[in-house]
Amino acid sequence: MPQYDTIIRGGSVIDGTGAPARTADVAVTGGRIAAVGAIDGEAARVIDAAGLAVAPGFIDVHSHDDVALLNVPALDFKAAQGVTTVVCGNCGAGAAPANERSQQYFDRGVGGILGPVKEFTWHSLGEFYDAVRAAGPSVNAAFLVPHGALRMHALGVENRPPSDAELASMKELLAAGMAAGAVGMSTGLIYAPGIFARTEELIELNRVVARYGGIYVSHIRNEGAGLLDAVREAIHIGEEAGTPVQVSHFKAAGRDNWGMTEQSLALVEEARARGVPVTVDMYPYAAGSTALAALAPRGRPVREVDPHDLLIASCKYQHQYEGMRLDEVALAMDLPLEDATTRLLREEENAVVIVHFTMEEGDVRRVIQHPLCMVGSDGIPSPEGKPHPRLYGTFPRVLGRYARDEGLMTVEESVRKMTSFPAETFRLAERGQVREGWWADLVVFDIARVADTATYEDPRRYPEGISHVLVNGELVVENGEPSNPPAGQVLVRG
Ligand code: ZN
Ligand code: CU
Repeated sequence: MPQYDTIIRGGSVIDGTGAPARTADVAVTGGRIAAVGAIDGEAARVIDAAGLAVAPGFIDVHSHDDVALLNVPALDFKAAQGVTTVVCGNCGAGAAPANERSQQYFDRGVGGILGPVKEFTWHSLGEFYDAVRAAGPSVNAAFLVPHGALRMHALGVENRPPSDAELASMKELLAAGMAAGAVGMSTGLIYAPGIFARTEELIELNRVVARYGGIYVSHIRNEGAGLLDAVREAIHIGEEAGTPVQVSHFKAAGRDNWGMTEQSLALVEEARARGVPVTVDMYPYAAGSTALAALAPRGRPVREVDPHDLLIASCKYQHQYEGMRLDEVALAMDLPLEDATTRLLREEENAVVIVHFTMEEGDVRRVIQHPLCMVGSDGIPSPEGKPHPRLYGTFPRVLGRYARDEGLMTVEESVRKMTSFPAETFRLAERGQVREGWWADLVVFDIARVADTATYEDPRRYPEGISHVLVNGELVVENGEPSNPPAGQVLVRG
């Protein structure tokens, strides 16, 4: 009788392609899926999956776990959701490449989102990937080259186009990252320094990405009144440079713009019809989350933002403000709104993360069920405070709330959005399907029970109904409880 490491017995296998579930055993040996079907064999570990679903591990295409991989290698908040791979470097933000200037600005800038770096032991992207390998994370990680880090490295926070020499140096750093295995490049065009980049600069850089077969991923320039032009710009950049395009956390922000995802999705469909491979991702919530500094440059909240829609998620020092609305903070400080915001950002050294109630449920539903939309948490792994619940709840919420309860799509289709679709789009080879010979990234869950439990008030809660998670054949979640084996790998584009 054949001997395996693990057999998952009698589950309802959802293979990740969108095909209907079928009952089968899944055997795992040496990190790979050895067999799928009626398996006659023995194993060191047998998981009884009768009545449960067995699916490929989920791929979080929009994560900000770059630094969390070093600080919290268990990445328990993701593993508990069934996530087996995180794609990092999103929104133009990352911890590499890093020179003295980027290190100096880090805490006041992207460090507010990514979390603190204890020590920069790397300079290049490749060295950073090695640091992640050495940290031994429990889940796999793939990386986008963050445009913001390239620009910071080459010209700091200057509001001007790069000189020829500076552009050449950005291209060199980018090419080195792609050569080290990055899956593409990301931009964050509302954040300094990405906000200072013109379209031409981004096309030029994307030509390098195209040479390596990478993808262009963008937090676009405007998600409110200027949404449609911003989507057009992202598509134009990919079309000119020859890269696929992924528009991040696809939304219509601000009451006046609700419903606009109908037109923005139409732009995506039109582009595809003329041969530009455009895709989008989304987290399943009607609130966003970002740095307060991005919504209130120099302390002045941008015009469309209602301060009552801003909930303080985390502060660096004054934790008493966490859970308060921005207008309540002003009241507590007994200051006019602008003065209060300026003071808060100054005292917190810019490191204030907010939750922003800015979307309409109808847009969320329209986008999440669209066949070109995959799932990305955009979770902000703040070590303190009350992070947006998407950090802990994204994947079970799509499965439970939007697929099972609301019936916006079949459970099989929702699994496709989290597995084979992202694996193909981001070129993660031999992942994203339950298939013989492929990597054994697997999740066992109960379709009837799966649910997110994280809320805005109490966001650090593991979901329900996800019992077992395997990363490269190793068990990282057992009976819903994450442990911390160094099972993950750094995935290179392939
Ligand atoms: Zn973003
Ligand atoms: Cu993001």
